[in-house]
Amino acid sequence: MRILVTGGAGFIGSNFIRHLLATDPAAHVVNLDKLTYAGNLENLTAIERDPRYRFVKGSIGDAVLVDALLKDGFDAVINFAAESHVDRSIQDARAFVETNVVGTQTLLEACRRYRVPRMMQVSTDEVYGSLGPSGRFTEDSPLHPNSPYAASKAAADLLVSASFRTYGLPVIITRSSNNYGPYQFPEKAIPLFITNALVGEPLPIYGDGLQVRDWLHVQDHCEALALILRSGVAGEMYNIGGSSERANLDVARLILGTLGKPETLIAHVTDRLGHDRRYAINASKIEQALGWKPRIPFEAGLKDTIRWYESHPTWWTRIKEGAYREYYRKTYGNLSRVSL
Ligand code: NAD
Ligand code: DAU
Repeated sequence: MRILVTGGAGFIGSNFIRHLLATDPAAHVVNLDKLTYAGNLENLTAIERDPRYRFVKGSIGDAVLVDALLKDGFDAVINFAAESHVDRSIQDARAFVETNVVGTQTLLEACRRYRVPRMMQVSTDEVYGSLGPSGRFTEDSPLHPNSPYAASKAAADLLVSASFRTYGLPVIITRSSNNYGPYQFPEKAIPLFITNALVGEPLPIYGDGLQVRDWLHVQDHCEALALILRSGVAGEMYNIGGSSERANLDVARLILGTLGKPETLIAHVTDRLGHDRRYAINASKIEQALGWKPRIPFEAGLKDTIRWYESHPTWWTRIKEGAYREYYRKTYGNLSRVSL
């Protein structure tokens, strides 16, 4: 099976490539990644010499390049490539529209031209918007994206659905809740909290910290995606959730407790604009149709993730000391509030 993975140098994509090559001897992977600030080939050193793996640097928005790749013949395309961080989209949404919307449409057009038998779009629960204290998102929940990031992912989902309805392109959309695990870029809450705690810096909690996310270990997400790749039905959408709702403040406390650090490191900072209060996924469709369930309990997965960051200091210190630091300097003016 020849699979084009886009955005495979990022957090989830790199975990997915390692998972696929380790579990499916028939899988051959080409990884197309633009290597933005979030793309890191160090995430893939374990498999970079595998003869079943090839890396191509480039953008999903480059129609000539995407055509040249797809005309070689692929059994599936799975699109992880995206601008993925909500706070960056609030600062400037242009790249989000270019990659998440225009880039996805470019991929869809090439998949149609070269009759790719399966195209999977890796989407997010954020397209459904924010929940009150009860209820969970199902595949039938209306789209109500609130951030520019979420709006760009919802727009992409609509283009993917339209390509099924209009052209019969065999597409599948997956919508997952918040992922955590190894190789997550330390701008996202969990790796930011862990790495700050490790060096004794404050953990910035937006607003009251009572916003709730439904945490899913990246390994559980990758297993769900591999299953859908093999057995999912074209034209369908699958929610993927961790059934592990936690308030941000509780996650921060758990990280500090595990590392034996004081709770005085918690620093409440100005809230994110338009901050969604609660996400929660109803994953009964994938559970019933494909027999998937998350296997990693949140507390155990978080502990393993903390251990991974503790034992890979070079990976994240290089990121924190590099371009990412520059971005935050520009964003916040100084590093006294958010230390990176
Ligand atoms: P990430 O930011 O870690 O990685 C994104 C990758 O895409 C990077 O390697 C980057 O270089 C690459 N990329 C960006 N623009 C590109 C372009 N134009 N062409 C080719 N490559 C490009 O993101 P992630 O957290 O791994 O998320 C992967 C996907 O999963 C995204 O589509 C995201 O919306 C979705 N998702 C993420 C989560 C989560 O919790 N992280 C949850 C649900 C869905
Ligand atoms: O729900 C899926 C989405 O999860 C994905 O589609 C996105 O790509 C991914 O980034 C993530 O979005 P969130 O905005 O939920 O994740 P983030 O890690 O940025 O924030 C998690 C929660 O923690 C959120 O309520 C904001 C809060 N937060 C975040 C940061 C970075 C803080 O309180 N302080 C912080 O410094």
